Amino acid sequence: LMKSQGKLWFGTAADIPGTDETTDPAYLTILTDPKNFGEMTPANTMKFMFTEPEQGVFNYTGSDYFLDLAEKSGDLVRCHNLIWLSQLSPWVTEGNWTAETLTAVMENHIKTLITHWSDRCYSWDVINEALAGNGSFSSSIWYDTIGPDYFHLAYQFATEAVEATGKDIKLYYNDYGIESPGEKTTATYALIKDLQSRNIRIDGVGLESHFEVGGTPSTADQLEAMQGYIALGVDVVQTELDIRFPTAPYYNETGQAEQAQDYYQSVAACMLVGPHCIGTTVWDFDDYYSWVPSSFPGQGGADIYNDTLQRKPAYYAIAEAI
Ligand code: XIL
Repeated sequence: LMKSQGKLWFGTAADIPGTDETTDPAYLTILTDPKNFGEMTPANTMKFMFTEPEQGVFNYTGSDYFLDLAEKSGDLVRCHNLIWLSQLSPWVTEGNWTAETLTAVMENHIKTLITHWSDRCYSWDVINEALAGNGSFSSSIWYDTIGPDYFHLAYQFATEAVEATGKDIKLYYNDYGIESPGEKTTATYALIKDLQSRNIRIDGVGLESHFEVGGTPSTADQLEAMQGYIALGVDVVQTELDIRFPTAPYYNETGQAEQAQDYYQSVAACMLVGPHCIGTTVWDFDDYYSWVPSSFPGQGGADIYNDTLQRKPAYYAIAEAI
């Protein structure tokens, strides 16, 4: 549906280890129906701890399952992610690094994965969640060891890898709390400008969009932030949209209506801003397999299908926004 409106996709994350997702026929039917989704993001298996469990030893099998599924369903894939502070292998977090040796680790990881899946990734989230709420760099093994240069170095390695493939693989920066104007959004604008001033490739910004029912930024605020990125010459994607209830109950009528309204106002921003918001991806489409309850204890009900895989008012609100 979003495709017909000039967008590249309406998509979803899949891939939650430790669940029976991949053997649940009802789940798979919804996931692979091209009428529902035109993009898939592997939520876990491409992350460092899964792809490079030992130094220099790469594992592609978990991700390949989802890549195959996406391709059979006609979906594009946003590959996620190369460098993040979380879900790292112990050999990285516990290693005894200098800036030089850790930079070499980063370079090898980035170049190996971009090259390996160069036929299969529409884009890569090169760095994920680099910034704290006030716009300064968050502490991470990367930042703490290499310093602020780690940011442009990662994109430089990614640019070199993409150029070597001869493909048009888009390079993204992905974060949360950058979906409306504020310190972190301003800092993100500066990161993009810095890469551009160094002639390093940056194609887009992923706006995670993990919101709360009743606390979702207005359409106007989301539009303003998007316009800021687009004015710098990059695309935006709503990459991880979900709108959780901060407390139970999740399924009363007023709550459902409010959540539907919040989904509507978010997707509407992507529609209104024009072709440079290229799509929206929800982070898990259903409340049963959702990552939210385990990461935010007591919270949930964040998705567009409920815990028995039925469409919620939020689903229909999105259809309307489109
Ligand atoms: C989450 C996954 O959905 C969970 O299954 C996992 O346990 C933790 O990571 N921001 C991101 C995603 O960029 O990679 C995170 O995914 C959610 C927050």
